[in-house]
Amino acid sequence: MGVKIVDTALRDGSQSLIATRLTTDEILRVAPLLDKAGYYALEVWGGATFDSCLRFLDEDPWERLRAIRKACPNVKLQMLFRGQNILGYHHYSDDVVEKFVEKSLANGIDIIRVFDALNDVRNLKSAVDACIKYHGHCQIALSYTTSPVHTVDYYVELAKKVEKMGAHSLCIKDMAGVLLPGDAYELISRLKKETKLPIELHSHCTGGVCSMTYLKAIEAGVDIIDTALTPLSGGTSQPSTESFNYALKGTKYDPKLDQSKLDEASAILAKIKDKYLKNGTLKVKALQVNPNILRYQVPGGMLSNLMSQLDKQGAMDKYEEVLKEVPNVRKDMGYPPLVTPLSQMVGTQAVMNVMTGERYKMVPKEIKDYLHGLYGAAPAPVDEEVRKKIIGDDEVITYRPADKLEPSFEKLKKEYKKIAKCDEDVLSIALFENIAVDFLKRKYGLKAEEFNVTL
Ligand code: CO
Repeated sequence: MGVKIVDTALRDGSQSLIATRLTTDEILRVAPLLDKAGYYALEVWGGATFDSCLRFLDEDPWERLRAIRKACPNVKLQMLFRGQNILGYHHYSDDVVEKFVEKSLANGIDIIRVFDALNDVRNLKSAVDACIKYHGHCQIALSYTTSPVHTVDYYVELAKKVEKMGAHSLCIKDMAGVLLPGDAYELISRLKKETKLPIELHSHCTGGVCSMTYLKAIEAGVDIIDTALTPLSGGTSQPSTESFNYALKGTKYDPKLDQSKLDEASAILAKIKDKYLKNGTLKVKALQVNPNILRYQVPGGMLSNLMSQLDKQGAMDKYEEVLKEVPNVRKDMGYPPLVTPLSQMVGTQAVMNVMTGERYKMVPKEIKDYLHGLYGAAPAPVDEEVRKKIIGDDEVITYRPADKLEPSFEKLKKEYKKIAKCDEDVLSIALFENIAVDFLKRKYGLKAEEFNVTL
């Protein structure tokens, strides 16, 4: 059997290259073609798309999901789910996590890819249990990073753990694009040998090595790779789907995608991409290879965030110094993988350390929370001297962070009964509070006028 392909253009491609601004209308122009192109699945929802719909696009993310499902009756639909953070930026109570999983599946998702920034499996448990309970395909993704503790053995042990948790498949999620071809070969070979799970590889082209890494992973027996339809591929996104379809054609790995459907969809998406190039959303920089990320082990999105933070403070001359400080902060924090939200936290701390001229003189609230254990267990011990300087003798929790969160779904449902017309609305509010409330007021406000009803 050939290699299976998941196309990520409509989620990660949009998120990596055009700040998640792809609209539902634009998605629906290509979705029916992709539905019949022979993919294993399409990644279309979750990640930052939910936030972007409510915050920037004035769209209901749940309606988007239902519309995509309708346009794609054949192919499996996949979403990215940040464990106990769901699609938001802090931990939510277990009942909200469970309800969100239930409703994601009910509205059209087949595969839920769950990950935790720290690979703390306690933060995956609620989502995984719910996905199994409501008969979804539960994929656990391990955040890939390099550090003295993130060895092949570390990932193999984690993979065995998630297999026991009941995951249906495993993904190596290399959000920064730092996985090198040789390392991928070793990692995938070991995972194939020591677990029974189908293995998927997700990486980014940022450092310029992704296609080489995928090919070595394929030789090592990887089952599924993530690629993006050409117009939203390359740079900080995934490699081109079409390129892989051509490269593997006629080999035992042939993914056998329908090239004419891909061409047709790509032609449409290329026009859409042009719009974002012209209006400045898509920056040439995002499309360029950046081997610095291999040197600093920093994701592309984080590099551009650092640049804009420094630019705003008129301190671009400190860029190199900040880049050198990032690995130091990361070491002090016990080597967290640099993925949302840790990438922003570590980046901001590095900027503060350099700008104030004294390490940890200024510390953002999120770093304080992290040091209290509120994000979960750090992969390696944190530097106790640094912890003491920042939080003194405060208690550091060792229980699962969400253990102390009270159930909140029914409470929110009652509290917002005038605005939230269905459980999906309540979930939008649970995750994005005022942003969702404002959106729903706009959404139903229009209808209220039409039907002359006062809300
Ligand atoms: Co990604």
